[in-house]
Amino acid sequence: MNAIADYRTYPLISPLLSAQLAPDLIEVTWADQRRSPFHHLWLRDNCPCSQCVYSVTREQVFEIADVPEHLEPLSVEVDDQGALRVQWEDGHDSRYDPGWLRAHAYDDASRAERQATRARKQRWVAGLTLPVFEYSAVMNDDSALLDWLLAVRDIGLSQVRGVPTEPGSLSLLAQRISFIRESNFGVLFNVQSKVDADSNAYTAFNLPLHTDLPTRELQPGLQFLHCLINDAEGGDSRFVDGFAIAQTLRQEDPQAYRLLCEVPVEFRNKDRRSDYRCLAPVIALDVTGEVAEIRMANFLRGAFNIEPDVMLPYYRAYRHFIAMTREPRFQFRQRLEAGQLWCFDNRRTLHARDAFDPTSGARHFQGCYVDRDELLSRILVLQR
Ligand code: OGA
Ligand code: ZN
Ligand code: ZN
Repeated sequence: MNAIADYRTYPLISPLLSAQLAPDLIEVTWADQRRSPFHHLWLRDNCPCSQCVYSVTREQVFEIADVPEHLEPLSVEVDDQGALRVQWEDGHDSRYDPGWLRAHAYDDASRAERQATRARKQRWVAGLTLPVFEYSAVMNDDSALLDWLLAVRDIGLSQVRGVPTEPGSLSLLAQRISFIRESNFGVLFNVQSKVDADSNAYTAFNLPLHTDLPTRELQPGLQFLHCLINDAEGGDSRFVDGFAIAQTLRQEDPQAYRLLCEVPVEFRNKDRRSDYRCLAPVIALDVTGEVAEIRMANFLRGAFNIEPDVMLPYYRAYRHFIAMTREPRFQFRQRLEAGQLWCFDNRRTLHARDAFDPTSGARHFQGCYVDRDELLSRILVLQR
């Protein structure tokens, strides 16, 4: 068994055929003829031996700054178990599992392959086929749980049915994923029309398409809304894929798109005891320029503080974005019934509810948040 600094194993896609020394690197050739360069520094950095990686935590104790920059290998070979073996000039001896090495190879073909198999977000519009899951299945069966979590990750909207309607039931389901993220609204928050509402969410008003807690540096990754009772007239749910809207805006109105990516605006949530503020753009991009996050709740926005020349173009862009969220072509609409819940990616999918008439019947939802890291970690562990 070869040492690897991980909790999973790496299948051997193709055995190692040979390894050759070159300046600064070792070039290996695989049985399928792929060639991969591995720099001396990279190899030394990734030595999985028990001196370099503590076997209990599987975390590195060695630091690459502990060896000279031009540490040379004395010899390199593919050993009789198919592992890459490197003996270093300072006496250190490293062995690399070929499955691990192939999975981490950084030649162009290997990197392109990995990029292609990366999870792709599936953008959607009004005609979305809603992914629906059964409560008893996701509670009792890890493979049903994984299917649900992948839908949440890749589509960003899902429904679970057959959920008990006792208050608090949502906690058990959310904890199937991981820790609930508490906020000033509680561990679970009660969405009901209240006289002393500390948010428009706790009225019977129409709530326009929004993300929750845009007022925080890190918006919650997942949001759950669990319906305990929905007997009032109105109050149907609506969703849009914020990534689909951003992509369309980029094509149809590039200037508006650019302003929403670049100009930060302030979101605020204040009551007698708290005052949360976050200054950030409506559309956040990742390092590759892809849309990574939408931040939008008009009812939580502060006054724009933008240079005068940009104020009107910014209003144009902001109004255009909201107008797009109102377009039927983007909206998925459905009423949530007792015993059903929504689980969606709050940093991507915007949600809304129609106004309802609280005199016509009771309406009580409970909600909570789980961070995206928890979702992704749970998926990886289930996939081990
Ligand atoms: C909320 C919210 C939707 C609803 O509480 O943030 O969006 O259907 N509620 O009440
Ligand atoms: Zn080592
Ligand atoms: Zn909300």
